[in-house]
Amino acid sequence: MRLEKYLVQCGVASRKKIKAAIAEGRVTVNGKIEVNDATDVEWDEDIITFDGFVPEKKQLKYYIMYKIAGYITAMEDENKKTVADLLPENINRSSVFPVGRLDKDTEGLLLFTSDGDLSHAMAHPDRNMEKTYYVELDKDISLEDISALENGVVLDTNYTALPGKVEYLSSKSIHLTITEGKYHQVKKMLKAVKNKVVYLKRVKFGNLTLDGMIPGEVKEIKREDIHI
Ligand code: URA
Repeated sequence: MRLEKYLVQCGVASRKKIKAAIAEGRVTVNGKIEVNDATDVEWDEDIITFDGFVPEKKQLKYYIMYKIAGYITAMEDENKKTVADLLPENINRSSVFPVGRLDKDTEGLLLFTSDGDLSHAMAHPDRNMEKTYYVELDKDISLEDISALENGVVLDTNYTALPGKVEYLSSKSIHLTITEGKYHQVKKMLKAVKNKVVYLKRVKFGNLTLDGMIPGEVKEIKREDIHI
């Protein structure tokens, strides 16, 4: 593994500060300071020091939250209630962060982790990570609207959304699966077919679901539970 990644996984500092520390000779590998970001190191084999101490691998954490409406997706805000307020006391708020975001009025599945690599991978557009939303609508949805959503509608930003998958549930409710995460994407996709979202809940993120969870609940999961 690259030395830089090793130190990121120890959580000693940000990637940028780690790179600077390596360049400044503040990092040693088996006593040597002639190292660089790419120096190959192994857990439990090599002895690494960072500013003179031996860092240990940070315990990476993963949680699924069943977000409820009324909370913004941020870890702190001066005036508004945030999803951090929904985390139980025993979770270290300074180490975890949400992967992606849900609007204040949106409910459903929000993943929290301290694993920066996983978060980056899940958000990467090339991954085509599927997100499924339960959507309630103001007006009846037509077959033409469904095929427009499945072919890729043009949003009010002039951006053409990638094709979504629609499961018809009733005249005013659908499951919409998308792979992108543009700002207000689902609301804008429905606006593009002249409808309006009146209730939105994310029910699936990749292979993760809300099965068995109740609104407001937070449960710890393992890295292996996330298929990526
Ligand atoms: N799309 C939206 O419009 N809002 C969300 O919260 C998530 C997806």
